[in-house]
Amino acid sequence: MKIIILAGGGGTRLFPLSRTCFPKQFMKIGDEQSLLAQTVMRFVPVAKASDVVIVTNQEYLHYVKAELAACGMEKAHIILEPVGRNTAPAIALAASYCIDKLGAGEEEVMFVTPSDHIIRQNDLFIQAVGQAEEMAKLNHIVTFGIKPDKPETGYGYIEAGEVCGCGFAVRSFKEKPDEATAEKYLAAGSYYWNSGMFGITMGQIMRELRTHQPEIYQLAAASYADTLAQFEVMPNISIDYAVAEKSDKVVTIPLLAYWNDIGSWDAIYDVLDKDKNGNAVKGDCIPLDCTNTLMLGRSRLIAGIGLEDLLVVETDDVIVVAKKGESQKVKNLVNELKDRG
Ligand code: GDD
Ligand code: MG
Repeated sequence: MKIIILAGGGGTRLFPLSRTCFPKQFMKIGDEQSLLAQTVMRFVPVAKASDVVIVTNQEYLHYVKAELAACGMEKAHIILEPVGRNTAPAIALAASYCIDKLGAGEEEVMFVTPSDHIIRQNDLFIQAVGQAEEMAKLNHIVTFGIKPDKPETGYGYIEAGEVCGCGFAVRSFKEKPDEATAEKYLAAGSYYWNSGMFGITMGQIMRELRTHQPEIYQLAAASYADTLAQFEVMPNISIDYAVAEKSDKVVTIPLLAYWNDIGSWDAIYDVLDKDKNGNAVKGDCIPLDCTNTLMLGRSRLIAGIGLEDLLVVETDDVIVVAKKGESQKVKNLVNELKDRG
């Protein structure tokens, strides 16, 4: 099995700490290791470094190399996209690399994972990866479903159907529904969030692309060198819209391990340790009579008095203060900053 780690996204949802020049996968969040290093190490029980392929771009290469060195996984492969074209072309490029450069056969499974999530209870996770590998060999696209607890609109939604192996056949897959649809899915009780990870064989990913994304398939079916050379004309589309929404081969295994895609400051608050008043504090901070507050300081002292349910993030040039529960709107803030130029 090959482990494909997608590390080319330029997330801005954790602005001001994550920026296009330093996205979330390279951040350390309440842990010694960056999210990318944690992702690589998660697979040690099932994959050697030489079975790991990291897909990124030139701009992030030095970060990726540093993270691999920090966790002794220098033998992992790194492939560089000439331009970012979202996850479907990135995955097609990785498949082409595995087949062409690593001699992967049609039947070999690739397990694709984002590089910017926190997963705990690794034994449960690795057990699910083993199940995914077995089910993928039956030509399924094996996703991991997460039990939803809110109508999050930033995720894909998986409608579980009949029992299939140790999971369920997927009746429908809807990427990033609007709020009303997400509310409906949550109320229905038969939907899972898509975790963004999946297992599939090399042969099946190529067949799925041929059926649903002939343009990507044409460009990726040639040699790795050709795929790379033509990468710029790849359509810009995520694997979720490109394949998962369209294929009838999707199955899902409910993931029992703790999963958090830390897509917001609220989610960061959730994963960090708290003091007895519910404050999560990093850096030089004094939370005087504060409750349920996140304070992340970089270079200056943050002093709060009597604050409640606030998120405070300080960097050299920006301080963001947000009400707890509203940090999804950081993306609106980033858009406003872009408009300002
Ligand atoms: N190499 C490469 N190239 N990696 C990329 C690119 C790219 O062009 N674009 C994104 N990535 C990486 C990101 O760094 C991240 O690790 C992963 O691919 C997923 O991309 P996101 O941009 O974070 O996707 P998302 O969060 O909006 O949605 C996906 O994840 C959700 C769960 O967190 C989807 O799979 C959803 O269905 C899912 O619910
Ligand atoms: Mg994401």
